[in-house]
Amino acid sequence: MDTSRWDNVVVLDHPLIQHKLTILREVGTGAKEFRELVKELTLLMAYEATRDFQLAETTVTTPITEATARVLAGKKVAVIPILRAGLGMVDGILELVPAAKVGHIGLYRDPETLKPVEYYCKLPEDIGERDVMIVDPMLATGGSASAAVQFLRDKGARMIRLLCIIAAPEGIDAVRECCEDVRIYCCAVDSHLNDHGYIVPGLGDAGDRLFGTR
Ligand code: PRP
Ligand code: URA
Repeated sequence: MDTSRWDNVVVLDHPLIQHKLTILREVGTGAKEFRELVKELTLLMAYEATRDFQLAETTVTTPITEATARVLAGKKVAVIPILRAGLGMVDGILELVPAAKVGHIGLYRDPETLKPVEYYCKLPEDIGERDVMIVDPMLATGGSASAAVQFLRDKGARMIRLLCIIAAPEGIDAVRECCEDVRIYCCAVDSHLNDHGYIVPGLGDAGDRLFGTR
């Protein structure tokens, strides 16, 4: 898939990511391994998605001498999983950014209309001061992600990134149309959506595979 037409998309093609993604897609991968892989993939994605975090100078005393060194410049982060499948991605980010706060947005996709329906929202009070990372394994029509971005904007969020494991071209276009400044990090851009709005080849229903509900 040529992704050069989307300048807001970063496809993470690191060999470890691609290897883990292949196992994740495999129909025979059970819920336990699926959960572990989602966490590992998210940690690797977070490493890339935080690449532009600012640093500040400090001094450090090593056993040998005092030296100038660099630390994160007090960046405040909020991780916002879209329920329920986004929950599987939270721990991977917290492992790298343990001070991040976690908010939740509950959306499900109506199977008939494919439109997102909101059923829950709880965000950090200072969301407007934080770098926001929305996490959801699947970007299909883009309805859920676009709704989440708009919702967060209404609550004052400014700097928003979207981390999804697999994206469909339709979803990328939809997010780009409503939220041009949101950078999307993904491990793959797949071919298309099927008649039920599932990503092809994709990995099936991410929530069901994570939680073993089907
Ligand atoms: C899945 C997925 C996304 C959404 C993507 O959630 O986790 O949130 O679909 O589809 P879209 O881009 O077309 O909106 P789902 O609605 O199945 O809910 P679940 O996580 O509770 O299973
Ligand atoms: N939601 C999923 O879980 N999988 C898809 O392929 C599309 C939407």
